Amino acid sequence: MRSALPLFLSLSITACMDPGRGAGDSVPSTDDSVGTDDTGTAKPEVCGYMPMPDLDASTDVVEVNLTASALEWDPGTGVPLTGGMAFNDSVPGPVLEANLGDTVRVHFTNDLDFETSLHWHGLRVTPEMDGIMQTMGDPVEPGETFDYEFTLQDAGFYWFHTHMDTATTIEAGLYAPIIVHAPGEVAPDCDQPMVLDDILLEEDTLQIAPPDTDMMQLMGRLGNVLMVNGRSDHSYGWTKGQTTLWRFVNASNARYWDLYLEGHQLTVVGTDGGFLAEPYTVDNLVISPGERYLVVVQATGEPGQSYRLMNKRFQLHEEGGDMVEPDPVGNGDNPVATVVYGGGETAGTGWTQPTPDVPSWGAPVENLGHHWLLDEDMMGGSVTIDGATWPDVPMVDVAMNVDTMFEVENASEMHHPFHIHGNRFQVVDVGGELPANAVGWKDTFDIPPRTTVTLVSALDNPGEWMYHCHILEHGDDGMAGLMTVEE
Ligand code: C2O
Ligand code: CU
Ligand code: CU
Repeated sequence: MRSALPLFLSLSITACMDPGRGAGDSVPSTDDSVGTDDTGTAKPEVCGYMPMPDLDASTDVVEVNLTASALEWDPGTGVPLTGGMAFNDSVPGPVLEANLGDTVRVHFTNDLDFETSLHWHGLRVTPEMDGIMQTMGDPVEPGETFDYEFTLQDAGFYWFHTHMDTATTIEAGLYAPIIVHAPGEVAPDCDQPMVLDDILLEEDTLQIAPPDTDMMQLMGRLGNVLMVNGRSDHSYGWTKGQTTLWRFVNASNARYWDLYLEGHQLTVVGTDGGFLAEPYTVDNLVISPGERYLVVVQATGEPGQSYRLMNKRFQLHEEGGDMVEPDPVGNGDNPVATVVYGGGETAGTGWTQPTPDVPSWGAPVENLGHHWLLDEDMMGGSVTIDGATWPDVPMVDVAMNVDTMFEVENASEMHHPFHIHGNRFQVVDVGGELPANAVGWKDTFDIPPRTTVTLVSALDNPGEWMYHCHILEHGDDGMAGLMTVEE
């Protein structure tokens, strides 16, 4: 593992300014560095996840204890990270599992030595519980506790993470999945959260590289170790014929993942806010930071065989543009986990698509709530929204419960994953095209370079909500604003 780490330290700033040159071209791909299990040495894990224990006996209340603390965890290199952090001593943190309509109580203890807050990414909670200081009040100080409480209005797959100094704390491990089951959801043979993250380690020490340089603030911090569920070397045991639901969330600082599973197809059955009206099948799937995808995979492989989950290089800067960011894992495809088939075959559950809770707009509506402009100020070294950075981005005011369209225009030459707190949207137009997942709820949207994306919603959660780029360096650096949904 150690020797296979790419020589990312030799990459320089000038490399990414070079016109038309994939700066990572000379960097070897980590082809053999992860997924060592395809040699058959490690024992594949059984499918599933461990939810946090529910301390409340009633069926419609989920009450959990959650602690954030320092933890030396091993990303799969064999070297525990001295700067690591975790929820309840695990990376990712344990799954918060509940049913639609449940009340959730999280007794949160901050055992870190700095203040923090928690954000329930994608859930329509109240502003006081959303983890941003403008509405929550004070951060949770070291040694202090805070009780987060909310009622679940949305079935689907979400995640929670710290919402202060995110580029450092999420990189260190403070993120975890949330599963909210829909009524009548039929469990498949295997229901598996797949939390994607990349981490940037120093080549010699294999410790977390120092916090972001000015260059990373602008380009985003790409890691040199690709992890699924907190390790670079997971392998999952499958049986031919089974049906697997992979719940993907991208917890990376800046990396867009582009995944495929050797020998299999991926059927997208849900996105950020639950299940889709129309599932669709793809060979590979791009997931931007903060986004979720629910993917069904039919186990069509052969008993005894291994298949690698692979990640393709995704360039954050415009294809053919004059800027190309280097990727520390190189430009080739990299294995990120392995599926290992046991012997035999099973009939399997198949997949039953739950009835989604999505109206179909399918097209922009008349009322323009706002037109955002994302841009970069190369001189100032910052990425802007409506010509400014936090806290100077002008407030956006929209009326509640009115069909409203939002345009997000990206005038810059790099992708930005745009996230809006507290409400949900449908993406009805990406540069003139209707996306495959248009009839489905989203809270995080890839806005490609020099492209306008149109969102539609009738916002029903009043209050002041933050919106920001989910490239954590951009968000921390002020690519963020507030929107008021007026009651
Ligand atoms: Cu997942 Cu404001 O963030
Ligand atoms: Cu959020
Ligand atoms: Cu951005």
